[in-house]
Amino acid sequence: MIGKLNHVAIAVPNLDAAAKQYRSILGAEVSEPLDLPEHGVTTVFVNLPNTKIELLHPLGDKSPIAGFLARNAAGGVHHLCYEVDNIATAREQLLESGMRVLGDGTPRIGAHGKPVLFLHPKDFQGTLIEIEEV
Ligand code: CO
Repeated sequence: MIGKLNHVAIAVPNLDAAAKQYRSILGAEVSEPLDLPEHGVTTVFVNLPNTKIELLHPLGDKSPIAGFLARNAAGGVHHLCYEVDNIATAREQLLESGMRVLGDGTPRIGAHGKPVLFLHPKDFQGTLIEIEEV
């Protein structure tokens, strides 16, 4: 079902400092910050040769990562994103296997303009999983 690792998302308490660290200390190609109000986050993408790192910072009052940062003040790995060919087919297979899809189960448009779904971390070794149709 899953293909490439699309990105690893890291929640960060200071987006500018994190972007600067990846750009200046690690020498990575780093995007400008992008506000995603419908997801309650501001993102910076670190483009690596084989995958991306998505630096996430809360945007607005109801950010889904605010609680995570409250529990992990220094930041931390928030989710992994795997690519799938067809998100509707993947969703059906996951539900048939008893996995839980978060929200109302309808794919939303993610940070890259593609449909995404999130899967319950308790079903996947304590790791929040995002699947993205590519
Ligand atoms: Co993501």
